[in-house]
Amino acid sequence: MIRRKDELDRMRKAGHVVAEILSEIEAHIKPGVTTKSLDKVAREVLEKRGARSNFLGYRGYPATICTSPNDVIVHGIPGSYVLQEGDIISVDCGAIVEGYHGDAARTFPVGGVSDELMRLMQITREALEVGKSQLRPRRHLNEVGRAIERVGKRAGYGVVRKYVGHAIGTAMHEEPQVPNYWPGKPGIKLAPGMVFAVEPMFNIGGRETVQLDDGWTVITKDGSMSAHFEDTIAVTDNGPEVLTV
Ligand code: MF3
Ligand code: CO
Repeated sequence: MIRRKDELDRMRKAGHVVAEILSEIEAHIKPGVTTKSLDKVAREVLEKRGARSNFLGYRGYPATICTSPNDVIVHGIPGSYVLQEGDIISVDCGAIVEGYHGDAARTFPVGGVSDELMRLMQITREALEVGKSQLRPRRHLNEVGRAIERVGKRAGYGVVRKYVGHAIGTAMHEEPQVPNYWPGKPGIKLAPGMVFAVEPMFNIGGRETVQLDDGWTVITKDGSMSAHFEDTIAVTDNGPEVLTV
């Protein structure tokens, strides 16, 4: 889909709300805090900004954000888990404003964390940056995944394949998907007005995943720690524009 200027303006508004949720949550992250209290922070920002949640009720999802500590890769459900000093916690959130969606995720440290975990977070964020830099008119979409995979492999990480990024607009998940690896073909040719959620997930160990019986929580098969960074990004004539700021 190619978005008109007025549609991109609405997506910028949704993106701003998502960024505000993430920054409010970041300010609340400390040892002793439950993940469900972070969900409440997100609900309050949505309410204050007159925005709706795109996560709550999505295929029956029971919360407003996903909170994924340590070896949880994605889709952790906020609950009674208490953040511990030395944990990392991935927070994924979204918002709908005037019918348009934003989606973003960050992995945060809880108090002081090991150098190994700081490196995991830095490199996963760097992978999002290099993936983003491929989103330019006339390039091909799957260059994003090629660039992300290169960063993850060079660092020795497991690059998760089972869960991928996606186009986004009037729905959270639109076609086409945005793999975090080279899928063997270049994919669509990019044009101004296309918008994608790019979301690398890297594991310190292998890339294999296991879904828990709650139907949502996805963990690393080998128990290794995992990080996830995501932004909603538009292709423009002036290069990639991050909307979730
Ligand atoms: N934000 C996730 C994504 O990046 C979707 C979360 S699934 C939900 O695609 F059910 F929690 F919404
Ligand atoms: Co997403």
